[in-house]
Amino acid sequence: MTKKGFIFDLDGVIVDTAKYHFLAWKKLANSLNIDFTEEENEQLKGVSRVRSLEKILSWGNKTISEDKFTELMAKKNDDYLSHISKMDENEILPDVPRVLNRLREKQQPISLGSASKNARTILERVNLREHFNAIVDGNDVSKAKPDPEVFLIAAELLNINPKDCIVFEDSVAGVEAANVADMVSIGIGDKKILRDADYVFKDFTEISDEFIIALIKN
Ligand code: BG6
Ligand code: MG
Repeated sequence: MTKKGFIFDLDGVIVDTAKYHFLAWKKLANSLNIDFTEEENEQLKGVSRVRSLEKILSWGNKTISEDKFTELMAKKNDDYLSHISKMDENEILPDVPRVLNRLREKQQPISLGSASKNARTILERVNLREHFNAIVDGNDVSKAKPDPEVFLIAAELLNINPKDCIVFEDSVAGVEAANVADMVSIGIGDKKILRDADYVFKDFTEISDEFIIALIKN
């Protein structure tokens, strides 16, 4: 059987952690008297921690010292980790295990391609670590999504040509990164938001086994 490289984003694709990032950023922004809406949050999905804070500060027209910046980054992450520490397998998004199992049955190489520096911790918490042949996360890249670096490294680790890779992403930045890398982009979420993806599904329950087989064959 042909081999394709299947690359999964983590937050908002495998687990429902996007809501925790939102809560932690909102708390931080509000503490600085900066408004933080769901629309703004959408622009932070897939975006690195540093870049996210820079964006929030610029929306609020705030400049702060380097020390304060470092302090706020740590604060956000502590708050985020307090949510993560309570996570278990119940927070794996619907039908993700089915899709991972199908791919494994078909001996398809699977990688994580996440911007998060907490990715390994989360995968361990929800007990999915052994499903992945490679893991590329925020600790392994120098350029954040929409730069394709994270996905290109994943392709290299899987030893699969980028054009034979398929990326599952819930963020605009991630879909753009997959497209720039010349990979097939599959958006998980809202069609209106992820309009540049090659395919969009509300969630994995909409992705049939037949569709997976077709991705492997085409
Ligand atoms: C991405 C999330 O996966 O990781 C972003 O979509 C987040 O919201 C980014 O900012 C970095 O994550 P972390 O865990 O390193 O702060
Ligand atoms: Mg995501």
